[in-house]
Amino acid sequence: MSKVLQFPKRFLWGAATAAYQVEGASDQDGRTDSIWDAFCRMPGAVVGGQTGGTACDHYHRYREDVALMSSLNLGAYRFSTSWPRIKPDDAAVNPAGLDFYSRLVNELCAAGIKPWLTLYHWDLPQALQEQGGWANRDTAYRFAEYALIVHEALGDRVRVWTTLNEPWCSAFLGYGSGVHAPGIQSQPQALAAMHHLLLGHGLVVDELRRRDPDAKLGLTLNFTVADPLDPDDEFDVDAARRIDGQFNRAFLDPIFHGSYPPDFLADVEKYGLDAKIRDGDLDLIRSRIHTLGVNYYHGEAVTGHPREDAENAHAAPVERPVAPAFPAADHVSSVSRGLPTTAMGWEVQPEGLYRLLLRLQDEYSGPAGTALYITENGAAFDDEVAGDGAVHDPQRLEFLRAHIIQCHRAIQAGVDLQGYFGWSLMDNFEWAWGYDKRFGLTRVDYNTLERTVKDSGRWYAQVAASNQIHT
Ligand code: NOJ
Repeated sequence: MSKVLQFPKRFLWGAATAAYQVEGASDQDGRTDSIWDAFCRMPGAVVGGQTGGTACDHYHRYREDVALMSSLNLGAYRFSTSWPRIKPDDAAVNPAGLDFYSRLVNELCAAGIKPWLTLYHWDLPQALQEQGGWANRDTAYRFAEYALIVHEALGDRVRVWTTLNEPWCSAFLGYGSGVHAPGIQSQPQALAAMHHLLLGHGLVVDELRRRDPDAKLGLTLNFTVADPLDPDDEFDVDAARRIDGQFNRAFLDPIFHGSYPPDFLADVEKYGLDAKIRDGDLDLIRSRIHTLGVNYYHGEAVTGHPREDAENAHAAPVERPVAPAFPAADHVSSVSRGLPTTAMGWEVQPEGLYRLLLRLQDEYSGPAGTALYITENGAAFDDEVAGDGAVHDPQRLEFLRAHIIQCHRAIQAGVDLQGYFGWSLMDNFEWAWGYDKRFGLTRVDYNTLERTVKDSGRWYAQVAASNQIHT
């Protein structure tokens, strides 16, 4: 029997994007290269040699896109600011770049849509990469300078600030496996980048709290709920521990407890992380946050036994050779346990989201009084356009429904979950996968740049308007 699940009053329904994935206009109005512009030019780095040069042209179409958000009944829009648009070459401030975000924020406010601003969604100025990027400690301080400039310009209207999006990806895909920009393959650099990203987060929270005590501050992490393939096999159990350590606890523990997990430090001992940690760093990183953003896409079954059929959810089908993303997991592989998968090859595991939320509430966010938000959840499927231009995407709709049901279940179990953002408002540049993988609630025709709301988007608009879902 179908049931109606009602969400709490003031539960926030939104959708998310990121600057490089949607804006385009990559060389206009004073913007200079980010590491992604440079990476896209590397032969074999991105499927089909595609780039974010035009993307969805959100930079010029933001008014139309805010109207689209209104038609989807969104209460909030999660977007990121592009560092090289605001501080090109990391030199002077670029007023034209800041002005774009100011106009976007005004448009959102006029439409009654809360701006949720992320300061770093992976597009480091290339000029800073040339000085070592996140592997260089100085980048954390440059990040804080840039954050203050953005806050100075938009702080009167933006009340929720997210420092980093998925620092695990920035560090381990960017500097470890090399699947993401800047494409470096060095585990010591990946670990240094991880620490400096966290330090940058801490510096920004510290400064913003001083300047703007009422602002809501936080960050967004990507989590992996790794289940041992055989819960009775000690190698599989240890593999799950290692993945949990590197993916989840290496970020959660410093932020909420002010220390790196000892087992993680032991796992990565040979890569020199210890030498990067200076007195006082962990105190800064532990600064209290109000919001923890949860990005959840898939589950994972892992084994500690070598397997020929190992899968890599963090690879892309590119020609460049890539390194493993997990320095702490030499003998760990992800394997299929027969669950359905999305077009990314990611297993669909909604119940993992429930378990994750409960754990975060019990061990991390709950004791700290930090609210949880799902800042990304969604799925890529191979959409087809019907004769009348409509996109019937029942798989995406069911994916969203199944995950939102788990959110409701978690709230019933006492989790302080205050909002949900679908990934993504529209199809966009899916990093090393290019434009082929479509996550949008709205389809983008990359020839005409026309937007068409998919069936899943219409359904989501009803959820947002009614604050309830039907099972
Ligand atoms: C998380 C990232 O934040 C986002 O940029 C990306 O497109 C989605 N995952 C889907 O892979």
